[in-house]
Parts: sequence; structure tokens; C-alpha cells
Amino acid sequence: MDPSQVKLPPMKNLTVDNITENTIRINSLCQDPRTKYVLERLVTHLHDFARETRLSTAEWMTGIKFLTEVGQITTDVRQEFILLSDVLGLSILVDSIDHPKPPGSTEGTVLGPFHTHEAEELAYGGSMSHDPKGEPLLVVCTLRDMQGNPIEGVKIDIWETDSSGHYDVQYAGRDGPDGRCVLRSDNSGVFWFNAITPVPYPIPHDGPVGQLLKKLHRHPYRPSHMHFMFEKEGFDHLITALYLRNDPYETSDAVFGVKDSLVVDLGKAGPEYAKKYNVSEDHALLKYDFVLVSDEETSELRARNSKIALDKLGRKVKIVNGLPVPELD
Ligand code: BEZ
Ligand code: FE
Repeated sequence: MDPSQVKLPPMKNLTVDNITENTIRINSLCQDPRTKYVLERLVTHLHDFARETRLSTAEWMTGIKFLTEVGQITTDVRQEFILLSDVLGLSILVDSIDHPKPPGSTEGTVLGPFHTHEAEELAYGGSMSHDPKGEPLLVVCTLRDMQGNPIEGVKIDIWETDSSGHYDVQYAGRDGPDGRCVLRSDNSGVFWFNAITPVPYPIPHDGPVGQLLKKLHRHPYRPSHMHFMFEKEGFDHLITALYLRNDPYETSDAVFGVKDSLVVDLGKAGPEYAKKYNVSEDHALLKYDFVLVSDEETSELRARNSKIALDKLGRKVKIVNGLPVPELD
């Protein structure tokens, strides 16, 4: 671009005190209001972070080296950036902002790096786990909307570790997917399957994120859980998990995913379920009723929450599609 065509005030002699406004000014040529807003806030917070911490060059180089290592260890099956976002509490924060849940609906939680798109569809009664050392578990669930109507035909992705706390993708020589499946809810909103009782496990901690946790004197463990993802047109995509009560890590999850509404007690099948689902009476049983929120209910709540949050911060912005953008583009 011809420099004489750029309509900007001259930018030189920049200082600790005026670098921020000038960086924002040059970025403001951006034509997309949302990108412009996100970059404006990012630059503001990054610069304030450097000013407030009096960041040294050596410290910033340590940060750059760390981020480089996070990138270098990342592959198709090892997503270190997601781990970093998880241990910094950013993943759960973004999920709570983007997928707000009204009272009575099922809360979301962290996705983590172990969801894949290769799970096979399971027939009702099939088992998603082939680990002979796992404790067999029958899982029986219902799926309803906020008005209490059953939801049919929802695609449900479910995944969990084996009894040693590893996901299938963590084994180099695996034959194919295991510990994961896809199901569809039936016309009464019910789905059920066989699995194994989840166990606690450490998130991958042999890389830069593990080093960071060690430096912070934090453990890498997640409490026993099973992941669920629900998709159906017209409903807000729900990524969640169920956690077992009284797990040793229930209140110290390395990635901040546990919410009381997602903590469950395992029971026993008893005579009724034993007969209906063809298991023994003392077979372990997990029962849960999920409630999905419609896209419309979610958009309204997201926009309302954005307005309240931005008013609280005293920011003069417009809310477009539930998201803040500059008031004057
Ligand atoms: C998981 O639960 O699979 C998970 C979540 C966050 C980081 C690592 C693993
Ligand atoms: Fe997990």
C-alpha cells in the first residue's frame, strides 16, 4: 500500500503512556466491528498487563519460549493450547459466557482435548468400552427441553477414559476408537448404554503446561467424569460432563470443570432396571435427566447477560447478535 494513502496521524515517539491509544488507532482501520472491538480490548489488556507487572524483557522472552513450546508439542491428538486455556480457567469462562444456561437447564463444562469425530454409532444396550478391567456401569438418561417436552433424535457424543485413566487417542498403537460412542435419543427422549465407571486421571502433564502446573504447585488431576455432547438443530450445542460424588478431586479439578448440578451418585440397578436392561440387580447404575436450551432462549439470555456485564463495566457499546461492538463504527 502506498504510505501516502494511509489516512492516519503520524506515529512516532511512542511512549509507555501513548503506545496503547496509537496501536488501537492503527487497528481501527479494520472494517469488521467485532474484530475491531476484540482487538481494541486485547491490546488494552495486554499493554496494561505489561505496565502493571513492569514486565522485563527476560520475562517476556520466557513467555514467548513457553508459548513456542506449547505450539511445538501440539499435534492432531495432543492439543496443548486447549490444555493451557483449560488450566488458566479461560475455557470454562468462555463456555459460561457463550452458552449461558437458565435455571433448570443442564450446565455446560470444559470440552477438553479428547473429543474426536471418529466414534461409532452404538445401538441401545451396546457397550462403549471394551476395557475388561473397568467396572461395568449402566447409564440411563432422559433429554427434555425447558418446557419439559422429550427431545427425539438428538445426536449424543459420549466419551470417557479406560480404567487406567487414558483416552483411546493416548495409545500410540490403538486399533480404533474405544471408550467413546454416538447415540440418538428415542421418541421419549430416552437414551441408554453400557460403559465403565469413570476414574480420576491426570491431564497430560509431560509438556509445557505440566511444567507450569508444577511451578504453580498445582496437581494435574481431574475428578472421575464422563463427557457428553448434544447436538440438534434449534438447540444450543451442549458440551457437558457428569462427575462422581466424593471423588478425591471433586473440589480441586485441574481445569475447574465441576459444578454441583453435574455431580451424581451412582446407584444399583435393582429389580426393575435389572429386568428392563438385562443386567444384574447389583450392577452399577447412573441415571441423569438432561435439559437442553433452544437457540432462541440462549440468544436472548446471551444478549441480556452482555448488556448487564458491559453496563457494569461502564462501557459504551452496542450489542449486536448478543456481542458487544463499538458504538460508533
Ligand atoms: C478431559 O476431561 O478430557 C480434559 C479436560 C481438560 C484438559 C484435559 C482433559
Ligand atoms: Fe475427560
